[in-house]
Amino acid sequence: MSSTADDMERLMARAQELRVPRPFLFGAATAAYQIEGAPEADGKGESIWDRFSHMPGVISDAGTGDIACDHYHRWPEDIRLMRELGLGAYRFSLSWSRIQPYGAGKANEAGLDFYKRLIDGLAEAGILPFVTLYHWDLPQALQDKGGWYSRETSHRFADYAGLVSHALADRVAHWTTLNEPWTFCWSGHATGEDAPGLKDGACGGLAASHHALLAHGLAVPAIRAHGGSAEIGIVLDLNTVTPASDKADDMAAAKRFEDAQNRWFLDAVFKGRYPKAMLELCRDLLPEIRPGDNEIIAAPLDYLGVNIYRRSIMAHGREMPPLNFERVNPPGRYSAVNYEVWPQSIEDVLLYVHEQYAPEAIYISENGFATPAETVTSDGTIHDVRRAEYHVDHLDHMARAMRRGAPVKGYFAWTLMDNFEWAYGYSTPFGLVHVDFVTQERRIKFSGHVYAAIARNNSDDRVRKYA
Ligand code: FCB
Repeated sequence: MSSTADDMERLMARAQELRVPRPFLFGAATAAYQIEGAPEADGKGESIWDRFSHMPGVISDAGTGDIACDHYHRWPEDIRLMRELGLGAYRFSLSWSRIQPYGAGKANEAGLDFYKRLIDGLAEAGILPFVTLYHWDLPQALQDKGGWYSRETSHRFADYAGLVSHALADRVAHWTTLNEPWTFCWSGHATGEDAPGLKDGACGGLAASHHALLAHGLAVPAIRAHGGSAEIGIVLDLNTVTPASDKADDMAAAKRFEDAQNRWFLDAVFKGRYPKAMLELCRDLLPEIRPGDNEIIAAPLDYLGVNIYRRSIMAHGREMPPLNFERVNPPGRYSAVNYEVWPQSIEDVLLYVHEQYAPEAIYISENGFATPAETVTSDGTIHDVRRAEYHVDHLDHMARAMRRGAPVKGYFAWTLMDNFEWAYGYSTPFGLVHVDFVTQERRIKFSGHVYAAIARNNSDDRVRKYA
């Protein structure tokens, strides 16, 4: 037997044995711009990602989301795939500019209808919808008025959240306001790697972050007003941060990075204040924080979604003054987007948030592994052994954190199927399902079969309870 075949057999055996404390939901996640395509269908307006991905030189393979997985038209097939994967839940985002093409005003019913059809299809398949309201695709019309630099955008987001939660109240029991504010605020406004591509340094990251958090805080009561007993949360991308050495300046840099990526958001949402050290360090760069903003942002939540891909090792450096850090990549295994594979990170991050912030419930809302573009082998499958191993190892460590008290209720693999990976385009797939972007043919990969085995062996009757 070849070593790949040995590895596959060994991993499937581990998958069959893996046990996660119940009740537990197994799902997969996607985001609108990364899969839907159809950028102008049924009255959709332009989003900042529609605009940004067409700028020369910003996407490594010059890809765009114009077609992506054509999920807008192929969603019934995609739901069939979810069933084959044994999913109990599906996390996806709504494209704001499908529903409010210019980011304000009454709903575009044709856009809303797409999501109603999708959610009804999920219900028929017994799959719970976890709906994210914002996964980075701001209506361009709002960007033209200042985007996340403007407090007005926070209010427009709350209007949108109210409108959508009213329209979908009878269909959706789990809402997420924002996906990864750290990433879309800092990569979109400080470094410019993501839309809208602004390179305004820490000042940009901080202004966008405050208004995004304000948007979140204003949206929570807007959803509660319509959502009945629906559960509401936010998704943060968190890392445990280790200093590169015990030198004082490396330790201080690690602390600054941790404050910026984790505590700025966690303290604001769970404690109603920003970390004092950040406020002092960045005092000349802060946006206006009005009296009452902190209380709005700390609206009580039902769950925290944690996206986790890696740990962070930080040294003193020159990146992002005044944060002044430098990421250190120790020898080890890395994914195609250069993230170190470190399964302990999921256990560490879960215990970190559980012990220090005690959210009522936690979902792993994303976790996954990128490879270089994959080819279909002669037996018609994709032997993505390393991705399968990544999920099995991380689930194993997640279960350990649960046994130590972390209240984890579900895990969403990133991602259901290969898709448009932002600035990497189509060159670094993360999917459990392979997509041929010429023919749009989908094929479940080896990792998908492994994941399905785990999902089937560990599912419970929660789906039926909500159906
Ligand atoms: C996260 C994003 C998601 C995807 C993964 C790989 O930061 O939320 O859309 O791109 O990374």
